[in-house]
Amino acid sequence: MTIKAVVFDAYGTLYDIQSVAAVTEDAFPGYGDIITQIWRVKQLEYSWMRSLMRRYEDFSVITKESLAYSIRVLGLKHDAGAFDRIMDKYLHLDLYSDALTTLAALKGRKLAILSNGSSDMLNALVKNTGLDRVLDATISVDQKRIFKPAPEAYTLIETELAVRPNEVLFVSSNPWDACGAKSFGLNVAWIERVTPEAMALACVNSDVVAPLTMFKALRTQMDELGVAPDHRVHALSELPKLASDP
Ligand code: LAC
Repeated sequence: MTIKAVVFDAYGTLYDIQSVAAVTEDAFPGYGDIITQIWRVKQLEYSWMRSLMRRYEDFSVITKESLAYSIRVLGLKHDAGAFDRIMDKYLHLDLYSDALTTLAALKGRKLAILSNGSSDMLNALVKNTGLDRVLDATISVDQKRIFKPAPEAYTLIETELAVRPNEVLFVSSNPWDACGAKSFGLNVAWIERVTPEAMALACVNSDVVAPLTMFKALRTQMDELGVAPDHRVHALSELPKLASDP
């Protein structure tokens, strides 16, 4: 099987969604971590719930609504300026340190993003981080008006890149997304950035669990959804070897 295209999830895979924590902490001192974690959990939850309810709104709306929830649930006063500064960070998220070198090493194959992000959010983020110079396509689920892990979302890879599912290596650190892609029929590499051993260490002898630790417990280990990725790696940098001899 020849891999003709490597397609990446964006938020959490190429981009570190925890990099908003500095901005949330600056906006709401002492609440940065808990806002950041509630926000991401609710953002994904809203994408799944709106898909099931057939009430699609694009990911910029979902990201705003989940941020508003996170501020409200903590009894914090809404501040339009702070809200806009936090939202703007989503257009300037930090790339993982090995993202650019990995994409360069994969040159020669079609390289793309398939993300729940709205077209506007993704185009801005990709431009702001220079990935517009290395990606062949930035694909938003907007045109399907349903979010990953719905199978309709993954059909966009074939439509936009003219490659068959078995010619694609799909890469995500989000277990639910890796399961959705595998269920659809793609070759899947899951990036396990937090191991159970690391989680055990974070929790041992501590009667207080930090919000980030709780987030990691909820969103970073492979889910029990009846499918499993083809490959488990721990960093983007392992992908070029994988794509050469899958
Ligand atoms: C993405 C995140 C939501 O689709 O996984 O980029």
